[in-house]
Amino acid sequence: MAKVGKTLFVCQNCGASAPRWTGKCSNCGEWNTLVEELSASPAPGSGLTAGRKGSAVALESLKGDTVETPRMQTGIIELDRVTGGGVVPGSALLIGGEPGIGKSTLLLQVAAAIAAKGGRATYFSGEEATAQVRLRAERLQLAEAPVELAAETNLANILATLRDGPPADLIIVDSIQTLWADALDAAPGTVSQVRAATQSLIRHAKVSGSALILVGHVTKEGSLAGPKVIEHMVDTVLYFEGERGHAFRLLRTIKNRFGPTNEIGVFEMATKGLREVSNPSELFLGDRDAKAPGAAVFAGMEGTRPLLVEIQALVAPSPLGTPRRAVIGWDSNRLSMLLAVLDARCGVSLAQCDVYLNVAGGLKITEPAADLAAAAALLSSFSGVPLSPDRVFFGEISLSGAVRAAAHSTARLKEADKLGFAKAVIPAAGEIDAKANDLEIDRIGHLKQLAETLSPCQ
Ligand code: TYD
Ligand code: MG
Repeated sequence: MAKVGKTLFVCQNCGASAPRWTGKCSNCGEWNTLVEELSASPAPGSGLTAGRKGSAVALESLKGDTVETPRMQTGIIELDRVTGGGVVPGSALLIGGEPGIGKSTLLLQVAAAIAAKGGRATYFSGEEATAQVRLRAERLQLAEAPVELAAETNLANILATLRDGPPADLIIVDSIQTLWADALDAAPGTVSQVRAATQSLIRHAKVSGSALILVGHVTKEGSLAGPKVIEHMVDTVLYFEGERGHAFRLLRTIKNRFGPTNEIGVFEMATKGLREVSNPSELFLGDRDAKAPGAAVFAGMEGTRPLLVEIQALVAPSPLGTPRRAVIGWDSNRLSMLLAVLDARCGVSLAQCDVYLNVAGGLKITEPAADLAAAAALLSSFSGVPLSPDRVFFGEISLSGAVRAAAHSTARLKEADKLGFAKAVIPAAGEIDAKANDLEIDRIGHLKQLAETLSPCQ
């Protein structure tokens, strides 16, 4: 047991500490996140303990020998893509996501893939008993893979196990919130425990050259420490997300010291585990009813990947004084902006109508280039004129109603061409490579041009 200092109140959201309990954290402004913890004495070797003098280190210039980052390919192409070519030995990766989204499933598949290639993969499960993990392995038909498995939550035991034998190529800890260090009095899942466990595991990974993958829960109530604190400590942060009612799952890079961010990996949760989806557009356009008014296909981008998705709108006369506006999968502020632009710049007023907007498949779109497709869907539903099903849209709309150029036009058009679309409505501005596809391209400079072709009661 380490020497125990005074009592501190630590915010479970941001990690800030305060001497007194308050309802609201003064650092991040979250409510009810302060938890009492006993502050332990400084970590040994941190230089803060009495009697230890530091020694000077050699300072170097920026120029010098560099080596290319070594990579260990997992064999799961979508994961290799989001990490920038495979996990880096000696690095730490955090996968965050809501409970039940499929983190344990994904990591068991990764461990099995590494083990099948002859690597040493060690899986520490803190949440489930070994029998449960075995059941999952059977379901995934991976029971034969030589993965080393243990159900353990004590940090010291985990580190001792790791030091025993040759270094592992891959270490998985599921989840970091369940670990506890003897030296700390705080409960598992509190910021100090999570921080201490992460630090020790990262140090081990650096020394042994093992790739470390940590699972972190994201909870709304914050009863467990959100992985925000560890996001700063690890090299790569991935988020695994998806809608409960939908089978697809997205793996998104939030931070990556060894590669690009904003990449996505797409998986489908099937009965035998996660299946990689190499052509996500087909998944999102799968079962659309192209004849109904109010549906427009958006040629979007996710990272460096083009992704076609249907945007659906329903505009109906409202019996209410304040009509309803509901959006799923898109920003509601952008919808308000779009409605205002349609009203002020194009003379199309939806003020007396309820407006519903939905992105098909449960995908969330954050790109401003979706404006034009959303506007097309709204206008089509309002006028009752279906859009021709072989058309795609993209372009950002400014407050003046002008359609602004979007990045990666060529890649978007190529994807639309590949999936059998014949026409594209795109911004007038911006360079495109006309020879790269066979689409009939309609370039518009102002939203009015679209509104005129889709005016009501035609
Ligand atoms: P899990 O990996 O346990 O989620 P997490 O670790 O993120 O909490 O996966 C949970 C869900 O996935 C569970 O509700 C069942 C479903 N699932 C399948 O649909 N197919 C499968 O093959 C597996 C293993 C799980
Ligand atoms: Mg799990």
